[in-house]
Amino acid sequence: MSDIKIIKLDTHAQGLIGWIAVQNDHTLGHIFMSVELEMKIKFLDAWVHEEHRRKGIFRKLWNTRWTFVQENYKGYKVYAWALPKSLPLLLEKGFVEGDTCVYVERQVEDLRPPGEQCFVSC
Ligand SMILES: CC(C)(COP(=O)(O)OP(=O)(O)OC[C@H]1O[C@@H](n2cnc3c(N)ncnc32)[C@H](O)[C@@H]1OP(=O)(O)O)[C@@H](O)C(=O)NCCC(=O)NCCS
Repeated sequence: MSDIKIIKLDTHAQGLIGWIAVQNDHTLGHIFMSVELEMKIKFLDAWVHEEHRRKGIFRKLWNTRWTFVQENYKGYKVYAWALPKSLPLLLEKGFVEGDTCVYVERQVEDLRPPGEQCFVSC
């Protein structure tokens, strides 16, 4: 863990700031935040390479981001949409759990009858 460096990324996307965890020129993980209107900050997109999970990399990235927020954004409200693996750390850090959000999906279908869905040349 001690040879893992955390590097801050100043992206060119408006309000988006990130950090990557690097070891021997390999990126092992990243974390981002987005500064929004009305003194709000969204924490987003935490990811650690599967082979390096449960070694404290997310915690290290998270703490670096949190120190940056505390030093630069006093009075802002921070929020996040947490997945099951990131929720425990957010709760540990004093975040209050809101409503549960469930992912849903469906395919957009072609509304035309089957015979009209493709060009028939004969
Ligand atoms: C979530 C993720 C970033 C955690 O990375 P990690 O480096 O393995 O996490 P850490 O080892 O630093 O763990 C820090 C804390 O996060 C929580 N945590 C991490 N992995 C967890 C898991 N599989 N289940 C439950 N809690 C987990 C724990 O509270 C842990 O603290 P502990 O070690 O004292 O129990 C990683 O599993 C990942 O990239 N998952 C896929 C993407 C994802 O779910 N991102 C989060 C939402 S954007």
